[in-house]
Parts: sequence; structure tokens; C-alpha cells
Amino acid sequence: MKKVRVLFVCLGNICRSPLGAAIFKNKIKKNGMDSWVEVDSCGTSDYHIGDNADPRTLSNASRNGIAIEHCVRQLTKTDLEKFDFILAMDKSNYRNILKLTADKTLHDKVRMMREFDPISKGGEVPDPYHGDEKGFQEVFEILDRSTTNFILFLQKEYAGNAKV
Ligand code: 4NP
Repeated sequence: MKKVRVLFVCLGNICRSPLGAAIFKNKIKKNGMDSWVEVDSCGTSDYHIGDNADPRTLSNASRNGIAIEHCVRQLTKTDLEKFDFILAMDKSNYRNILKLTADKTLHDKVRMMREFDPISKGGEVPDPYHGDEKGFQEVFEILDRSTTNFILFLQKEYAGNAKV
């Protein structure tokens, strides 16, 4: 069974990517995919290394029934080699991820999270850091539906692995 490694990436690794990873992890478990899907998150910046997720991320996640255990880390070039899918939250994250290597085969692993959004394909997951709870809830809903759709994609792509 081929292991599939998925990395959620944002700027600070305190708002969007830890939330996306936690929502996704829950669904992976519920769908019986935790034996073959591995999940992590990180940030392109070094602003919050070692921190927990933002308190507003934690409370929003909790309100939505999601627990987060987290320690911020920064993206490295090794991540591009190790992970199969690297999901960028916005275009700036996307560009900064690609800057880590000139290897085009590694670039192909990098996708925009909202490529998998069934409602609004191709957009960005907005940065909620300077906003309020409304922004955090909007991010939650985008990540919720995008991760559900990403799971459907993985189940098709790795049909030999999928427990249906
Ligand atoms: P995130 O949000 O990239 O979703 O974790 C941000 C977190 C921190 C900062 C900006 C965005 N910051 O400037 O410190």
C-alpha cells in the first residue's frame, strides 16, 4: 500500500494550515484512511516557530468540533522531497514554496488548496490573521469543503488503497 503524505502550508502556520491539517486528519480517520495517509502542516515564514496555533484558530476549531495539537514549524526543502501533496493556502505561499527548489518534478507536487474547493475553484484561502471570528469561520468552511473534495480525489487516485 502506497503511503500518501500531505502537507498543508500557509505563512505563519498558526491559522490556516494547522486548521486545514486538523480538519483533514479527522476526515482521514473517519474514512479509515489513516493507515495510508499522513498529514502535517508548516509555514513559509519563521515568525511563530515553536508556537501553538493562534488562540482564535483553536477556539474556532473547538466550536466546530475539531481538536488541534500543534507546534509551529517552518517549511524546508526536505519537505518538498518527502511529501506527495503540498497544499498552498494562497498564491504568495505557492510562490514561496516553489522558490525552495528549481526541481520541476518537486514543483509538480505543489497545488493550491482551493483547486479542490467544489464551490470556488482556483481562489485563495484568505488570511484571517488581521480579521475577526467571521473570517476564521469563512476559512473553516472553505477548508472543510476543500478537504472533503481532496479526500474524494485521493480515494480515486489511490483506488487500490481506498477503504470504501
Ligand atoms: P496563517 O496566518 O498564515 O494562516 O498562519 C498568519 C499568521 C501570522 C501572520 C500572518 C498570517 N503574521 O504576520 O505574523
